[in-house]
Amino acid sequence: MELIASRDALRDSCGRARLKGNVVGFVPTMGDLHAGHQSLIRRARAERGFLVVSIFVNPLQFDSPADLAAYPRALDRDRATAEALGCDLLFAPPDDELYHGGRPEVTIDPGPLGDRLEGASRPGHFRGVLTVVAKLLALVGPSSVYFGEKDAQQLELVRRMVNDLDAPVSVVGCPTVREPDGLAVSSRNSRLPPDERGAAPVLFEALSEAATMARHGERGADVLRAAIARRVGAEPLARLDYAAIVDEATWRDVDIVQRTSRALVAARFGATRLIDNVSLPVA
Ligand code: PAJ
Repeated sequence: MELIASRDALRDSCGRARLKGNVVGFVPTMGDLHAGHQSLIRRARAERGFLVVSIFVNPLQFDSPADLAAYPRALDRDRATAEALGCDLLFAPPDDELYHGGRPEVTIDPGPLGDRLEGASRPGHFRGVLTVVAKLLALVGPSSVYFGEKDAQQLELVRRMVNDLDAPVSVVGCPTVREPDGLAVSSRNSRLPPDERGAAPVLFEALSEAATMARHGERGADVLRAAIARRVGAEPLARLDYAAIVDEATWRDVDIVQRTSRALVAARFGATRLIDNVSLPVA
């Protein structure tokens, strides 16, 4: 496995791989590779010829410098993980490599969905995400790029960017990997003290309850939203940020669950903010 830190070397190496006739698969991450990341890498490894993984803690998508500084970094371990999973090239640039040491003046506007849900709680977050993803896609030139459904709004916005800007790549969404108790695997889980870690599965429990109600015929989005809010509200260590039911195609709030919809939830446990989502079955 090649370990590359500079943009030029990344572009050259991916260009050479394509010239040799390889299709390139790409998994962008911020590192601290856990079971969720690993499932994306395995999927990409199974499907594509030359596999590129990136690790870059993107300052543009953090709203607070403290959050950025606190983000876990574990390059030595990540390097071993990526290699063991059959990655061909690991791109791990230093902090100042991608933005020439400053903030870019030209960025990607995520459109109206960028200001809702996660975007409402984290202003500027999706502009930062899409800008770094666009840069990485330009450098790597993959045929396919892999994202987790865990961050469903991010996945949707990347799909919209690729579609609206005609980027020559197909976006592959991968299912959420969960702990045995249902909690979605996340780098943030390790920051939870034991009591909050014990409380955190309430997010998936609340979403699962809504999915069961939908399966049994409940169509009212208000009823499903209220059920999620009630379940999370009953956990003293959780502070609900939002519970939403959106149409999977438009991402608008729905009144009646008629076709495939997604239930989304975000809550704080102490200093840690967690998100989760599930697709709602149409009975
Ligand atoms: P990061 O949080 O490191 O996540 C990298 C990828 O792993 C994302 O596509 C995310 O959805 C996926 N992922 C995280 N937890 C998962 C889980 N439990 N199951 C399945 N997939 C999971 O998302 C980012 O980084 C950044 O915003 C990035 C896209 C790299 C841009 O900076």
